[in-house]
Amino acid sequence: MPVVITGTGSALPSNIVTNDDLATIVDTSDEWIQSRTGIKQRHFKSEGQTTSTLATEAAENAMKSAGVTAADIDLIIVGTATPDLTFPSVATMVQANLGMEKGAAFDIAAACSGFIYALSVAESMMSSGKFKRALIIGSETFSDMIDKDDRTTYVLFGDGAGAVVVENMTDEEANGSGVIGTEIYSDGRYKNDLYASGGVSFNKTTGNIVMNGREVFKHATRAMSGLVTDTLEKYNITKEDIDWLVPHQANKRIIDATAKHLGLSSDKVVLTVSEHANTSAASIPLALDVAVKDGRIQKGDTIFFEAFGAGFTWASALVKF
Ligand code: UT7
Repeated sequence: MPVVITGTGSALPSNIVTNDDLATIVDTSDEWIQSRTGIKQRHFKSEGQTTSTLATEAAENAMKSAGVTAADIDLIIVGTATPDLTFPSVATMVQANLGMEKGAAFDIAAACSGFIYALSVAESMMSSGKFKRALIIGSETFSDMIDKDDRTTYVLFGDGAGAVVVENMTDEEANGSGVIGTEIYSDGRYKNDLYASGGVSFNKTTGNIVMNGREVFKHATRAMSGLVTDTLEKYNITKEDIDWLVPHQANKRIIDATAKHLGLSSDKVVLTVSEHANTSAASIPLALDVAVKDGRIQKGDTIFFEAFGAGFTWASALVKF
């Protein structure tokens, strides 16, 4: 059964922090941040906001855009690396916030690839017909995890959430729309190049982000090019068939390299890293919602999603919107 995206939504804290604001806290500059990453600003959560409150807001907006209510949802999957609590999952908190009394809800830990991992898992669970309608969410509050003693990571991250409603349909109802295919990969040998320095069974803290930026950059660029070639080949899609690249938003230079590999001009790439910075698992559904809301992405368009993150994990999804 085709699994179709029927609604998108997002949530961003109102507190905008510019590069110049950060330059008053750490030894950095707007010029360095923009030229190395493309980031101009990020949103940081305000008092009372958490990963689950942002996820709930994004979910409510996605349900509104799909024209459904919580009673219509039977599955929630949240990609996050910054949950409110170690447990229960953010997904069950969203379930309670939405007033749902049925269904299944759980989180996925795949760092920046979390949203595509969640979409991939949902597609497997839904295409058999076992679940009818799901909320797939990416939500993060990395402002709680950045360390002002490390300028190399402090300037890169932001908070936010994005969500989609996906629904399994008959071929007739889907009318050509649906997930064409998802690819998920990981290689744990690189776990020390990007990680949080805390955890329950390691040191009972949440820790800070530690990243070997140059190594991550190198692997991300290479993995994204490989993903483009492999995914297109596997699903027998040509570069010309792709209408939009909606990538993970970590660094404009990585995105530019992937777009070049796809042969896509910059006006076919949804770029939000300048406004949102790196929101990890939230970055793709946030970018998707921006481009759907401003009218760029239309029903029937073919979208290539791709992400790379800690683990290392990486993933792609081809979707007929
Ligand atoms: O979302 C998960 C995946 N993450 C990523 O994809 C991130 C991948 N990596 C990157 O995006 C880039 O490697 C960074 C943006 C993190 C860094 O850019 P870079 O061009 O690789 O810079 P670099 O680490 O090679 O550092 C260059 C210089 C260094 O100074 P020296 O050693 O050349 O004197 C750094 O100390 O820039 C310095 N530097 C800074 N200067 C001003 C590092 N951070 C800063 C800063 N402000 N915030």
